[in-house]
Amino acid sequence: MRRLVLVVAAVVFTQSALAQEKAKPAEPKRPAEKRAEDGLTKPDYLSELARQMLRRRMERHGRDMTMLMTGVVLLKREVVQSLSANLAAEPRITRPLPDSRDELNSALPERFFVLQDELRDRARQLAETAKTGKDKELGESFARLTQTCVSCHATYLNPKGE
Ligand code: HEC
Repeated sequence: MRRLVLVVAAVVFTQSALAQEKAKPAEPKRPAEKRAEDGLTKPDYLSELARQMLRRRMERHGRDMTMLMTGVVLLKREVVQSLSANLAAEPRITRPLPDSRDELNSALPERFFVLQDELRDRARQLAETAKTGKDKELGESFARLTQTCVSCHATYLNPKGE
């Protein structure tokens, strides 16, 4: 019973965090360069090919994330460690080579690769925390990982910040 309550609390927490993210007032329109300077969404977009390729990877992330959250909330360190280590070890999409004809890699903007690296680093940190860190740090480390998911989705799923 206690477990169930914990899981429900975590789900409610995550959903309210997502709702807050959505509830942000729409940003006034600004010139593209200004937004880029701010480190905000650039008006880049992903091709249909890139999105299809990413979708499968993301469906897996979605499933892993649910298990990961349950693991963190219930302090099941071994579960957290193995899931986050797998996430960190997942093959990354490589940056395009200068004269590359690879359509997928070239279709992705630089920020995508930055966030992809950040995801790997934060997944590694979470695995490390699960091994040696304090319980409190487990929650913080998981939150940082989640921020990277949200940053990338804010850029590519919702580029206008609506
Ligand atoms: C580097 C960028 C990036 C990062 C980091 C990222 N995502 Fe995504 N994610 C995307 C993009 C782009 C899509 C949209 C793909 C599409 O067009 O369907 C997406 C879509 C999704 C979807 C929807 C898939 C579907 O069924 O259509 C889920 C679930 C998801 N991501 C989970 C996650 C989770 C969980 C994390 C963090 C562990 C994460 N993502 C991190 C870029 C990212």
